[in-house]
Amino acid sequence: MVHKFALLASALCLFVAASPIEQGSEGISIALHKRSSLTNSDGVFNHEEAIRRLHMTAGKHRSNLINAKQNLGYINDDQEIKQLRVIPRHLQLRRRSQFEPLIDQDNDQNWAGTISIGTPGQSFVVDFDTGSSDLWVTSTSCTSAICSEKHSYDPSQSSTFHKQPGNFSIMFGDGSTVSGDVATDTVTVAGVQVTDQTFSPARTLSAEFLNVSIDGLMGMAFPSLSQPEKPPFIVTAYKQGVLPKNEFAFKLAKEGSSLSLGGVDKTLFTGAIEFHKVSPESIGFWQIGDGSIHVGSDVAVSKMQTVIDSGTTIIIAPTDKAQKFYDNIPGSELFDAENGFYSFPCSSVPQISLSWGDGRKWNISAEDFNLGPIEKGSSSCMGAIAGQDIGLGKNTWIVGDTFMKNAYTVFSFAKNSVGFAQLSEN
Ligand SMILES: *[C@@H]1O[C@H](CO)[C@@H](O)[C@H](O)[C@H]1NC(C)=O
Ligand SMILES: *[C@@H]1O[C@H](CO)[C@@H](O)[C@H](O)[C@H]1NC(C)=O
Ligand SMILES: *[C@@H]1O[C@H](CO)[C@@H](O)[C@H](O)[C@H]1NC(C)=O
Repeated sequence: MVHKFALLASALCLFVAASPIEQGSEGISIALHKRSSLTNSDGVFNHEEAIRRLHMTAGKHRSNLINAKQNLGYINDDQEIKQLRVIPRHLQLRRRSQFEPLIDQDNDQNWAGTISIGTPGQSFVVDFDTGSSDLWVTSTSCTSAICSEKHSYDPSQSSTFHKQPGNFSIMFGDGSTVSGDVATDTVTVAGVQVTDQTFSPARTLSAEFLNVSIDGLMGMAFPSLSQPEKPPFIVTAYKQGVLPKNEFAFKLAKEGSSLSLGGVDKTLFTGAIEFHKVSPESIGFWQIGDGSIHVGSDVAVSKMQTVIDSGTTIIIAPTDKAQKFYDNIPGSELFDAENGFYSFPCSSVPQISLSWGDGRKWNISAEDFNLGPIEKGSSSCMGAIAGQDIGLGKNTWIVGDTFMKNAYTVFSFAKNSVGFAQLSEN
């Protein structure tokens, strides 16, 4: 045992010496690219993209509920597997115009959200998603146009590929699915290598992945949300002894976004990390309870359950709670009732913050709350909190990048907690 750990520790040190690891990192850091924004280059709110994103989030969480029900035998009383919300036809199958290319921080493409699968490794750009638990990438058996612009996994070129029983499928809002076999293979993220990681080489890809420069998704929530009920990469890595801690952390920012695996990167935050236990109500989400949202010094909504979801762009509240929140913002209006988007006067961006338990208030910057004027020249701006009943619970909010860009966010299986810390200046 001791011997094994000593070996692992020295292997890790060698790796550290040979790789672009930041000083002060307990874990191993990987640079992330910037997600395309909901604001057009002229500063105006991109309504169509926001609707597509909302449908994807709804579809993803619907799948989570289906998987949890299958795996646990229940979902909570206030949760519901809703009908699929269908994306309006005119928004389907369109090439996305607002796409921001990969931001290559270190002039090294291979560190920009890239993972490798197989022996020898095949490279893919994936979204790291704390709001789901499965890994999938496009495979060579996908022959549709959507897949033609992706890197595709070729099982025949990997000596460590093993097909497993079962099928994988997630249905999205346009009725199309991401589906494929279930398999295992060696997976490497930032030099952290695990064997026999369960994933899906996808045979069909939902149209929503057309013109998005990702080849797949790496889920980072708990195994109960996984369709084949298998541990996500990060859990496998810890079990196989290749990470010092069962923990990961995100810095999501305009520049220098990164994911740290196996511990936090101490250069990226200051002060203590404020940890909150995963809620007993969680069925497999990174969900923490006793949240409050504040407008200035007023509490707008309290007793919130919050799912911290790096795969969601904005913040999504139950519809009645979104209304209650915007009631605190003078001049705000429901702009799009179907999708639950609200506007507010551009001249006075409200000071929004979130808090949990007796923790501090974590501000959301004006820049992150304000998605821009609803149209060119308008004095009404779109707020980054929308109301939509996705089925996760009557008090459950999905807290996405809008919030995560404002704090260093730590996801600890070891502590069964989510933590927040003040981002370092620079
Ligand atoms: C998986 O899907 C294929 C094709 O749709 C089907 O033939 C097969 O029976 C499915 N296997 C399982 C285990 O569900
Ligand atoms: C998205 O579509 C635009 C316009 O067709 C194209 O210029 C761009 O390269 C595409 N981006 C990706 C990631 O495929
Ligand atoms: C949050 O915003 C308020 C109002 O602008 C400000 O007074 C406070 O200092 C901010 N808190 C932090 C921690 O930045």
